[in-house]
Amino acid sequence: MAQKRGFLNHIRPRGVSEKAMSFGYTFCLGGVSFLAFVVLGFTGILLMFHYLPGEKSGYASVTTLASVIPFGGLIRDLHFWAGQVMVISVSLHMVRVVKTKSYRPPKEWNWLVGMSLLVLTLVLDFTGYLLRGSQESGAAAAVAVHILTLLPGIGRPLAQMFLGGASAANSSTLMVYVWHCVALPFLALWLQMFHFWKIRKDGGVRPL
Ligand code: HEM
Repeated sequence: MAQKRGFLNHIRPRGVSEKAMSFGYTFCLGGVSFLAFVVLGFTGILLMFHYLPGEKSGYASVTTLASVIPFGGLIRDLHFWAGQVMVISVSLHMVRVVKTKSYRPPKEWNWLVGMSLLVLTLVLDFTGYLLRGSQESGAAAAVAVHILTLLPGIGRPLAQMFLGGASAANSSTLMVYVWHCVALPFLALWLQMFHFWKIRKDGGVRPL
């Protein structure tokens, strides 16, 4: 019971500092980032009902989805634009954190969690672009594999693990699909929950 009350107090605390509520301090950029993530989750699930991963089927299913399926184009556009909004809002949120010097102790660990979230956001945006299956996204995948293999030692295994390497286009689109639709979103969701919990643990949003 005490545990349940603790959890409820955590999601709806009794007091929030006035500064945390002031728009001019946070510009609500963390909140906007989370909202974009939620929209991405909903629209992403709807897109998964029609998307078929594969070298040729990826492009064909995206085209069918946008032109034949009712509201398919709208859902695809919403997913795309929410992704771009998230990249911009997460980057601006980081600038705000630098401006208010909120990376200093005791918030230094949450700064590192935030950095991981920024990397995850960019990787999610990039892997989404690869799933289009267009010629441009094929070229982008080839460049990514090439850049990764330039890393000494770990480059090749990383390229194999994330993008399936340079060959076997079908299995690599399946791999990118699983990263983009399952593994990375779950990791990002978990990290965001941890990020929010850590804000409270560090004393809430307030000038240091
Ligand atoms: C998915 C991405 C992210 C989400 C959803 C998110 C969400 C939030 C939210 C809702 C807050 C509360 C205050 C506010 O809105 O500004 C916050 C605070 C914070 N965030 Fe993020 N954030 C993300 C990424 C980042 C990044 C990239 C960094 C830095 C590298 C970062 C570092 C911090 C820090 C240090 C705080 C505490 C700020 C303070 O106490 O003034 N976050 N975040």
